[in-house]
Amino acid sequence: MSGNGRGAGFQPAAGEALPQEPEDLFLFRRIREEETEQAAEIETICFPPNEACKREHMISRIAAARDFFWVAEDRHKGKIAGFINGIATNEAAFRDEFFTDASIHDPAGKNIMILGLDVLPAYRGKGLARELVRRYRDRFLDRRLVLTCLERLVPMYEKFGFRNLGLSASLWGGEHWHEMDMNTPGILKAAEEYIRQLFAGNADGHGWDHSMRVYRNAMVIAESEPAADRMIVALAALLHDADDYKLFETENNANARSLLAGLGIDPVARDRILAAVNAVSFSKNRGARPDTLEGMIVQDADRLDAIGAIGVARTFAFGGGHGRSLEDSVDHFYEKLLLLKDLMNTRKGKEMAESRHAFLETFLCEWNAEMNGLTGK
Ligand SMILES: [Fe+2]
Repeated sequence: MSGNGRGAGFQPAAGEALPQEPEDLFLFRRIREEETEQAAEIETICFPPNEACKREHMISRIAAARDFFWVAEDRHKGKIAGFINGIATNEAAFRDEFFTDASIHDPAGKNIMILGLDVLPAYRGKGLARELVRRYRDRFLDRRLVLTCLERLVPMYEKFGFRNLGLSASLWGGEHWHEMDMNTPGILKAAEEYIRQLFAGNADGHGWDHSMRVYRNAMVIAESEPAADRMIVALAALLHDADDYKLFETENNANARSLLAGLGIDPVARDRILAAVNAVSFSKNRGARPDTLEGMIVQDADRLDAIGAIGVARTFAFGGGHGRSLEDSVDHFYEKLLLLKDLMNTRKGKEMAESRHAFLETFLCEWNAEMNGLTGK
């Protein structure tokens, strides 16, 4: 690939954590047209002549596929510290023409062929490359990412979440390349399917549809939290009830673990997903806030599904399924549901909880009026 894959990019130490939050140091955004020359120059700094993309190819690529060219701007200097770029296509395998012919770019293409991951020498060894990959993947969660890299960099890309597909047809720069991919849409689809089967037949408000709503809520909240790893959020949301002690007799997140292992999720990501999952339950954690942003997002998403019209329906479905009277189910509103709005962790979660909370109050108002014979006379 153009970029680190060709050997002159960041060092394998790039997986180390940044001393400060990446969001504080860098602005991650789409490249601006006027930065084309800057990007072309960075390419020549990062790679030897046989591997670097030529200036004219960088220019035509930025013109054709600017939405797919993301930079990390040094917030203090206002200059690009690194970038990641590619073109989209429905072709599944890598070929060298992607480097030189930007007209191949199809904005709706299911696969993104990554053509460059460049980090200027002064910024290497600080985790910026990993963060660029993460932001890019999160921006395009519905696309499969494909890259080629030299053999010695395969372990590093595996840590970033890529799978090694073996030797590529690419002979770019006269080198042999490994082709790697990160099939995020495939992973999320498989997780959805797993949840659908796991909860088949559940009708007490904790079914597959609940997990899917939590997933959708979580992704909406994550949009407002750029520092959140959206892949962690997505999988934690989908799996958040997969080992719920009220529903399953599993230990140590056995259901979630077996799915994540089957999906090839690396142990670091797996542990972050499980930490988020285990932080969601209010009762299990005795009200403690999750200590990761991803956990906070999933907890908010779960709570949103406990209030509003859906919350009302779920409360009675759960109550009915467990032999509770309507009045007992209404008690649950006062014991828990009305408290949730003020327990939301994220700004977006709080905002989303407002109208749902208001609906609970409206419902209770009407309920009390009807129970006291004040309406319908
Ligand atoms: Fe839940």
